[in-house]
Amino acid sequence: MSIALGVDPFNFVVFGGTGDLAIRKLMPALLFSECDDRLPDEASIIALGRTELSQQEYADIVRAGCKKYMADNLFSEEKWEAFAKRLCYFKLDIDEKQDFLKLAEHLDKTADRVRVFYLATHSSLFAAVGEGLHDANAIHDQSRIVLEKPLGMDLKSAKETNSQIARFFKEDQIFRIDHYLGKETVQNLMVLRFGNSIFEPVWHHGMIDHVQITVAETVGVEGRGGYYDKSGALRDMVQNHLVQLLCLVAMEPPAQFDQDAVRDEKLKILKSLRPIMGDHVEKNTVRGQYAEGAIDRTATHSYLEDSGIEESNTETFVAIKAEVDNWRWTGVPFYLRTGKRLRQRFSEIVIDFKPVPHQIFPSPGQGMKPNRLIIRLQPDEGIKLIMTSKVPGPGGLRLQQTPLNLSYSDVFRKRAPDAYERLILDSVRGNSTLFMRRDELEAAWSWVEPILEEWEKSEEALVDYPGGTMGPTASTALIARDGRSWHDGGET
Ligand code: BG6
Repeated sequence: MSIALGVDPFNFVVFGGTGDLAIRKLMPALLFSECDDRLPDEASIIALGRTELSQQEYADIVRAGCKKYMADNLFSEEKWEAFAKRLCYFKLDIDEKQDFLKLAEHLDKTADRVRVFYLATHSSLFAAVGEGLHDANAIHDQSRIVLEKPLGMDLKSAKETNSQIARFFKEDQIFRIDHYLGKETVQNLMVLRFGNSIFEPVWHHGMIDHVQITVAETVGVEGRGGYYDKSGALRDMVQNHLVQLLCLVAMEPPAQFDQDAVRDEKLKILKSLRPIMGDHVEKNTVRGQYAEGAIDRTATHSYLEDSGIEESNTETFVAIKAEVDNWRWTGVPFYLRTGKRLRQRFSEIVIDFKPVPHQIFPSPGQGMKPNRLIIRLQPDEGIKLIMTSKVPGPGGLRLQQTPLNLSYSDVFRKRAPDAYERLILDSVRGNSTLFMRRDELEAAWSWVEPILEEWEKSEEALVDYPGGTMGPTASTALIARDGRSWHDGGET
């Protein structure tokens, strides 16, 4: 079998093996790796769950999930047969020592393989799993643990969980996942900035007016109400995905592309984020919850209906005006927004440059606007640079905004791998460049926590926004107050 990239033989152990994440993301990602011949012959996948299931029943669940969730109908019967042979299911109750001993015994049959323990469970269970593995002697030098986000509910619980896990695993064995870092376009953001010489000289407050980061979703909370209602958009999306994107836009060039150099630079940004606390929370943040509405002419339910909860103060939309207090970014706001049940699904980073210093064209009108760089993370991945051009024709000078367009699908013409494909194999290789380090994660919580605290104290009810809009009108006002407006997905 040919292996495109070197991966040592491994056992991949999934806690939460019957859960949504395992079935929707992890198993399809592993099957894609099988399809691309990236898995060595000696690789097995051990799924753990609380339900009693036969091997065949579990394989059927995974098969159905892969057929449903693998993009572009890429499911292949032939590859599935090979993949199914790697799969094995164990019932495991986290409180049962005996179950951990059985798992350890199974793993010991291939003791020389790398072991990846993937915790696709709520973070409140992480410590117990770590302890169970430790007591059963299941952790060896070649073991790693992958922790799903959100890790903790606030700074205190994140620190506690980190400390508990540190009793059983060394920091270089701990992989705190943020799947946004595994997205091809997010990795390309670093290549765009540090693999091209033309951007760095203009990447600062002298040339950039402001930055926008939007992660807009059309989905609601669907079956995830139980988790989501305790979490909300700030913990679910901002503390991790949006803050990580901000770091990649704002960080200084690292000396090398390695785990410490990259994460050291991100940490400096996290520490430079201006705290938003007290009165500043109301001024610089907006939160909302989706009400009934319609997306593409299809009626959508409210958050309360979707989650089956009668009353809730949980936000499904957040907009924040953030500032990075350092030499490079002084005076450049970073506007962040994310929400569920919005009009359109798109994630993008928009860099708005400053206007030309002196206007020489008579009556330039609307055609003359500052340059704008749009980094589209999904869908229609690509990069657009909006420039001012002359409209061809005699008599006068008419100007127009025109895009310089790089579409990844046109250039690369191949399937863009899912973020989890990359990240799972990186965890096997022991490469944590695209994972969060403990100090990074805690710094992100430190920034988010005062906002959470202020919201909890506030008596004000959440603002509703109809499904199919771009969130509460206060979000438009947040940026309009500074004389700016949100870039709206489809527009140039
Ligand atoms: C997850 C959140 O981390 O990211 C979900 O828990 C969200 O609520 C998802 O829907 C979005 O990821 P993607 O890759 O679909 O943009």
